[in-house]
Amino acid sequence: MTENYKAINWNAIDDQIDKATWEKLTEQFWLDTRIPLSNDLSDWRELDDDHKWVVGHVFGGLTLLDTLQSQEGMASLRKDVKTMHETAVLNNIQFMESVHAKSYSSIFSTLNTPEEIDEIFDWSDSEEFLQNKALKIEALYTQESDPLKKKIASVFLETFLFYSGFYTPLYYLGHNKLANVAEIIKLILRDESVHGTYIGYKFQVTFNQLPKAKQQELKDWMYNFLYELYSNEENYTHILYDQTGWTDEVLTFIRYNANKALMNLGQDPLFPDTAADVNPVVMNGISTSTSNHDFFSQVGNGYLLGNVESMNDSDYDI
Ligand SMILES: [Fe+2]
Ligand SMILES: [Fe+2]
Repeated sequence: MTENYKAINWNAIDDQIDKATWEKLTEQFWLDTRIPLSNDLSDWRELDDDHKWVVGHVFGGLTLLDTLQSQEGMASLRKDVKTMHETAVLNNIQFMESVHAKSYSSIFSTLNTPEEIDEIFDWSDSEEFLQNKALKIEALYTQESDPLKKKIASVFLETFLFYSGFYTPLYYLGHNKLANVAEIIKLILRDESVHGTYIGYKFQVTFNQLPKAKQQELKDWMYNFLYELYSNEENYTHILYDQTGWTDEVLTFIRYNANKALMNLGQDPLFPDTAADVNPVVMNGISTSTSNHDFFSQVGNGYLLGNVESMNDSDYDI
């Protein structure tokens, strides 16, 4: 006899974090089409060609990574779920990754010419160090059988590898430039911080049940993999930022975020860099966008989940 097919019951929750995350993510739903990007054109025209190049190409890189998350990432993690509600949350995440990937195209179509857009996509589809990182993560999504390594790949991508790109819009936001482009990036950051925390949490649930020796083995693998990604990221950052002189600052920022990725996975930091080492202009930009970085610890006003009261008859007295 075949097993019966089960209906998802949201009134019988196995893991309250699934429900809380679903509520958080649906509450912060957004679409790129609602942001008035053309208001940034006057700021854009004031940038010199080197800085315009950086803006276009960091977004090319980010498009590639969000494409990977929407096409391979969530589909791969969905194979290892422990609850039906986890599948629902990953479905939500997968759709939002498609929104993220598309939103950069909205930025391009506002700021760039068709020829420039073609060049940016040719670049992101072929640039050595960008392709390196995408292919390393993709290999884990498609060929790795250990669910925990796949979750590590996802958290490293979202909480670490995106940040060489996020630096540029946050820098301009801190200087009161390209505010609408930055608004899109802030919305993406807000999503990524929940994704990274949620997938990191799911990692920790399984990891904490492993025997100590197995945990150590996985830790060694994780720190090696992070270091391998970081050394590639150094090369990528030089390619992107040497012409603006921002390379060292960006590297500080990505080491800081590498530590955050480890924190999401319940691990100790690898690098000495802290928030105090990051350019305060950029931290200022990020503080308005990652208020739920510590989503599950519920510290501070940005971390609270929406409190929705039930409707009653008086709600219909219009
Ligand atoms: Fe994303
Ligand atoms: Fe994400």
